[in-house]
Amino acid sequence: MIPDTETQEQPQSQADIVAALSSYDLPEIRRFQQETPAPVLSHIPGGGGLPFFGQMFALLKDLHGWLDREHAKHGPVFKQKSPIGEIVFLLGPEANELVLRNEDRMFSNFLAWDITFRGLFDNNLLERDFADHKQKRRILQAAFKREAIEGHLELMSPVLRAGIEALPSGNTVRTKDFLKGLLLDTGAKVFLGTEIGADAAKLNRAFEAIVAGTTDFFKREAIWFSPYAKGVRGNRTISEFIFGEIEARRTAPGRDIFTQFCQLTDDDGRLFSPAEIRDHILFLLFAAHDTTTSTLCSTLYALAANPEWQEELRAEVAGLDKEDLTLDDLEQLVKTGWTIKEALRMYPPLAIMPRHALVEFEFGGHHFPQNTPVAISSLFTHYMAQYWSEPTRFDPLRFAPERGEDKQNFYQYIPFGGGAHKCLGLHFAEVQGKTFLYHLLRQYRVGRDDGMARYRYNNVPLTFPTDGLPLTFTRLAGR
Ligand code: HEM
Repeated sequence: MIPDTETQEQPQSQADIVAALSSYDLPEIRRFQQETPAPVLSHIPGGGGLPFFGQMFALLKDLHGWLDREHAKHGPVFKQKSPIGEIVFLLGPEANELVLRNEDRMFSNFLAWDITFRGLFDNNLLERDFADHKQKRRILQAAFKREAIEGHLELMSPVLRAGIEALPSGNTVRTKDFLKGLLLDTGAKVFLGTEIGADAAKLNRAFEAIVAGTTDFFKREAIWFSPYAKGVRGNRTISEFIFGEIEARRTAPGRDIFTQFCQLTDDDGRLFSPAEIRDHILFLLFAAHDTTTSTLCSTLYALAANPEWQEELRAEVAGLDKEDLTLDDLEQLVKTGWTIKEALRMYPPLAIMPRHALVEFEFGGHHFPQNTPVAISSLFTHYMAQYWSEPTRFDPLRFAPERGEDKQNFYQYIPFGGGAHKCLGLHFAEVQGKTFLYHLLRQYRVGRDDGMARYRYNNVPLTFPTDGLPLTFTRLAGR
């Protein structure tokens, strides 16, 4: 029988999938995902361990140690088995450059990140590719220009100050919980433009459920008690809240990001649809919240463990004796900036970044077939002895211009990623981090709880303390 060529689906060429990704043609992208066989990676070293899980448990427990061990055994290229298939790790600045610069559109973000975000953070900027990504990013960037961040600072500063003033003096505080709560309140104000009042607890729970759903490998909504199903329900709860507010925000004044998104237009003067606003806001809350919580956890640990640096920073903030700071004021907090950078070097919140190869390519003497899933690691690069002196030592001065240790290779320091997808919120994050430390260090001395010998944390899915980070906050005399 002669096949009906009119209706029969043709296999997609590489050019077809790039075109589908460039125009965010979801049905075509999904077809490609379903029809693409897994690449053959038998010639790539590594990959031992348990059936199905490979070495996933070792990786989850101690990513840094695992990367070091695999690197010592195999060099900068090795594979790892996981329940979602094999993935190849490419380590070092050259690998970071290849993947993040992404010349010739060799790597896709969608095909790498979709497995994490599907049904929870759909249509987000990080998973857009090429022309489609460029167009969306240009529009969203308007909400992160200097004047916009000046507005965000005015909104966040009083919330941070009030939260810090309420810290009980002398008691041990589970700092991760404290920071998570405080940054959610700050996020509600800056991102949503509201205190979310009576709905706060419900919305927080819904948001936490969506985030937890991202780490569920199986993503089965029918299993109603699974983290994924709870996450999908959380998404519906927050969607209802956002949709209920959009009409009023289209014309209302407001410096918060939600109101800005309701009024942003594309090149043709078209406003974002309600679903687009929901998708972008939800993803920004996600992209901003855990990453900044993680950064402040590690910064506070580092300051508690290095009291001499804490005093340096306290002297710096004392030089600006004001209630609330402007962006110009924050620029004077130079050592505070190096300290945050050093915390991000040692404890990058996103320690691994995944991509999916759209073409075959060579790296480190190996040949990789089309459709190879790859991962690069900020964490590994941030400790490479050829770029960093005494990499395990907390030493913010390595970022001082006279030392400029971070400047030897453009891709050796990548806490915010790089290339087209470099973090959109990096200035926002710096402003929030400095403002927080300004208010905190003027009033409190931070110390380690007596029982705390070292920083206990893991790096997957994001870098977080595993013991809640027990620190003490003691009010300074006269404050
Ligand atoms: C210290 C805190 C933060 C860190 C370490 C961080 C890290 C990152 C990294 C590594 C990426 C790139 C991921 C990849 O290429 O696979 C990224 C992307 C992104 N981040 Fe951040 N982030 C932080 C804070 C924020 C904040 C506060 C916001 C929003 C206000 C934000 C919004 C975004 C967005 C929208 C993207 C996607 C950009 C794109 O695809 O074009 N991030 N972030």
